[in-house]
Parts: sequence; C-alpha cells; structure tokens
Amino acid sequence: MAKIAVMGFGTIGSGVFDVVNTNREILKKTSGEEITVKYVLDIREFPGHPVEKVLIHDVDTILNDPEVTVVVETMGGIEPAFTFVKKALEAGKSVATSNKELVAKKGSELLATARENHVSFLFEASVGGGIPIIRPLLSCLTADDIQEVNGILNGTTNYILTKMNQEGTDFDAALKEAQDNGFAERKPEADIEGYDACRKIAILMSLVLGRRVDFEDIHTEGITKITTRDFAYANKLGWAIKLLADGWKLDDKVYAIVAPFLVKPEKPLYMVNDVFNGIMVHGNMVDDVMFYGRGAGKDATASAVVGDVVDIVKNPGITIYEGWEEEKQPLSDIGGACRQFLLRVKCEDAEKAEALFAGAEKIDAGIPGEVGYLTQTMPESEFNKAAASLDVIHSIRVQV
Ligand code: HSE
Repeated sequence: MAKIAVMGFGTIGSGVFDVVNTNREILKKTSGEEITVKYVLDIREFPGHPVEKVLIHDVDTILNDPEVTVVVETMGGIEPAFTFVKKALEAGKSVATSNKELVAKKGSELLATARENHVSFLFEASVGGGIPIIRPLLSCLTADDIQEVNGILNGTTNYILTKMNQEGTDFDAALKEAQDNGFAERKPEADIEGYDACRKIAILMSLVLGRRVDFEDIHTEGITKITTRDFAYANKLGWAIKLLADGWKLDDKVYAIVAPFLVKPEKPLYMVNDVFNGIMVHGNMVDDVMFYGRGAGKDATASAVVGDVVDIVKNPGITIYEGWEEEKQPLSDIGGACRQFLLRVKCEDAEKAEALFAGAEKIDAGIPGEVGYLTQTMPESEFNKAAASLDVIHSIRVQV
C-alpha cells in the first residue's frame, strides 16, 4: 500500500483527495498498489468533511513518518511550499506538485535535491492543467530536436478573449463575466498580465533545452490593452486574437515571448477557445504535435497530479526525471524575431505609415478616424523603430 500526504486542501488538493477516493480501483490497477491519503496538511479546519479524519496542521508529522513515500504539494506560491517540498525530498519522499510558481522559480534546485536523494520531483499539473505535456515531452518526443513550443497556456485569458471575439464584449465586462463564472481570480493580475503563461513556457523551455530558462528573462505582455477595436480588425481579417506563449530555437539562438497575437484560421491554435488550453510542439522529425484540453480546474488538474503519484508508486527508489541543468539558458533579444504586425494609426498618419512600412496592406475595419496596416514580415526591432515616429493607436503581432 502506498501512503501519500497532501499539503494544501484548496481547490486542487481537495481534487486530489477526491480522485484518490473515487478512482481507488483504477489507481490500484495502474500503479500496482492501493493508494491512500494518510495525511492532509492545512492550517484550516473542515468540520464535517471526510478529510477531518486525516487532517493535520504540522508538516513535521509528514516529514517524520517513514510510511509516507509520496507528498503532493498543492499549496501554491513559493513559501512555505518551497521549504516543505525541499524538506520532504531531503527526507527521502518523492513530491508531485501543481505549483507552477514553485517549479518556475525553484525547479532547478528541487530537481537537484530529488536527484541527490534518489527520489522524484514531478510537476505534470504545473503546465496545461489536465493536459499531458511534460511526460510526452520527456518520454515520447525524445527522438526529436524540439524546435518550438507554442501554446495557449492560460485558460482565464483565453476565456476573456473568446468572449470579446464572439460576443463583442469589452475587456472589463469579459473579465467580470470570467470572475462571476469562477474562471478568473478576484485578483486576476497573474493571468491577465501574462505572468502565469510566462512561468509555464519557462518550465516547458527548460525541459526542452535541458537548461534553466528564467521566467524573468521572457518578454511578457498581457491582454489588458486589447480592445473591441482590435477585434474589429481581427474579424475583418477572419483571424483570432490569442495570448500565446512561444519559445523557439533559430540557428544558435533561443527566443521566448508571451503576448497577444493575431492567429490565422489555418493555425492549430486558432480553434482553441474558452477556458481550454492548446500546446503545439514542433519537432524536426515529427513536425507539429498538438495537445489540447482543460488547462485549469479542480478535477482535470488533480487528475494530472495523481498521474504523477502513480508514476512515482510504479518507480520506487529512482529519480524519474533528471530534469534540467542549473546552468542558465540565455534568451536572445525579441527584437531579432521576424514577423508581420497589425498597426493601427490615426488617418492623419496614414501617408507617413505607408512610407515607413513599404508594401503594408491597408485594412479598413470601419472605425472612423483611423486606419490599419498589415506590415510585411520584418524584425521586431525594425518595426519598433519605424513605429516610434508615428502616433500608434495599437499594434499586435501576427503569429508566424
Ligand atoms: N489561472 C490559470 C489559468 C490556472 O487560467 O489557466 C491554471 O494554471
């Protein structure tokens, strides 16, 4: 019998408790052992809830119990999650976490601690919620040179952009609707400013490159500046606007960006709507592979966490992923990336824009007083330099 401890009984932690209890027989078959929750750690009380029987308030109870071989961390945030996870690994316990802040910030150190102690630190649920992406990258796409990972990695912003597109809702109203429906947090900055997607692409790029990609190095823009007027242009073009998290290799350089992009219908990520996530991986042999599913939510995310627990139970005494090296992967300036741009300027700037952006296609979205241009493919640095001499209303990148 495998006895596990769950640290943090919030949405995901309670989901893990439910999955283990609901799928008891399935887990016995897939892992080869009965899996039970011996402890749940939380500072709160849950009177009348079945978790009461296993609820504890002191992490040392878990750390000092040799029967507990697997610890699930679903507390979120850096502290005290980091200290607890580190101590659990040092105590010879494997850890499965859904905590992307922790993995993005402290992943290298925790992976090293896991290696030193011959245990595993797994984090499938930290990216893409219930979508299997980390295990496929590490176990299946191993014959390929992975050249790009491009994804819609945040369900909240995808929901907001889908509402703005389909219902003509403005950003504030779409955000409020997302909050009312429980898709967006009351404090939504991490999602709408792109920070959440940034951490997730940093984790995926670290895995792909085998070196630490610091999320602080990634050029990150959120969706707060996207307006219904931008969607008027997108609709005119028949394209979507998506918050993309893109990391890619070109020659000897590595680039990464999180920003809103115009996405053409022939692109796989075009059809990823609402709270769903989609991740496109491009390998030099396999070509494009697409992963799609629920990137957030209690049951989907808990399913991924428990999948990691099964993997750990099936592979005792070994480190399942060696992980990435501590050595930092430098990222190239995003100014060197080449793409088209949608540029919106006031009518009085039209002539100047046409002179600066030779060959740009004029787009009339029917908005009085302004005109749009779809530029030729050009480096971002050149676009920015030329655009600096115009009174730009807004510009949006076009997905390559
Ligand atoms: N806030 C995240 C999202 C939850 O909206 O995708 C999953 O990490």
